[in-house]
Amino acid sequence: MKKFINFSRFSKYNTTFLCNARSLSSTPSNRTQVQTSQTVAPSFTGEPISKNEPLLNSFSIYRWNPDNPAEKPRLQQYQVDVNSCGPMILDALIKIKNEQDATLTFRRSCREGICGSCAMNINGINTLACLSKIDRNAKSTKIYPLPHMYVIKDLVPDLTHFYKQYKSIEPYLKKKTQPEKGKENYQSIADRKKLDGLYECILCACCSTACPSYWWNADEYLGPAVLMAAYRWMIDSRDDYGHERREALQNPFSVYRCHTIMNCAKTCPKGLNPGRAIAMIKKEMALE
Ligand code: SF4
Ligand code: SF4
Ligand code: FES
Repeated sequence: MKKFINFSRFSKYNTTFLCNARSLSSTPSNRTQVQTSQTVAPSFTGEPISKNEPLLNSFSIYRWNPDNPAEKPRLQQYQVDVNSCGPMILDALIKIKNEQDATLTFRRSCREGICGSCAMNINGINTLACLSKIDRNAKSTKIYPLPHMYVIKDLVPDLTHFYKQYKSIEPYLKKKTQPEKGKENYQSIADRKKLDGLYECILCACCSTACPSYWWNADEYLGPAVLMAAYRWMIDSRDDYGHERREALQNPFSVYRCHTIMNCAKTCPKGLNPGRAIAMIKKEMALE
């Protein structure tokens, strides 16, 4: 049994908050600042990185255990010495799991914004825990799973439907004619450039789960992440199925549920703009 997390229950996490808030700490440029700092070193092991006095920060983390389905979800508080912890929220989560509570459950893999698995809602913003710097001055940091998703356990959302939708757009090269034997599918430098700002998507689902239209119509609306991937293949000069790809979206729900609210672009931890890609799909569909 999975829990459905409805953020309308938490007044601080309503739509307006998600629309307006954007943490600079989640931007790639901020990540660079952290990497070049001489005073802190990334720590995945919980090893002390500073000889300073302990500085305790409070972390309130969403907990729900499918093995106790009758127990309501709750926020659990942890105190973390941020002077003996790596600089990112993911470091704090790993430190908590290693030193305080091995039952705390979350996804992570690359710890450098590549795999997309540590996507979660941190202080009201959907972002990647490994790219979010700990705010050392904050009294408390609140961490929830991605909003409006079924929860498998603690900070782990169920992305089955999201991946099913991704599969539905056939995210791979489709050709009507194959290149001569032994030849590659060539692409000019100019055509390759058209994919910039699209191919970098890591499918973390931060954007789709920040989109109010996706919250209410996820069954049929594909959402920003999947639509941006669809556009990426539509404009790939090597692909021969652009028209058919657009045809598949010609219905009231798949794409037209986007109302250009732009939460998606505000929250994307990779600095991408799925809202623009959706607008381009709509434009091309209108011209066909
Ligand atoms: S621009 Fe479209 S996809 Fe992006 S948040 Fe708004 S409604 Fe959702
Ligand atoms: S567009 Fe950005 S937020 Fe959306 S899935 Fe891709 S990387 Fe994540
Ligand atoms: S752990 Fe891979 S993106 Fe954060």
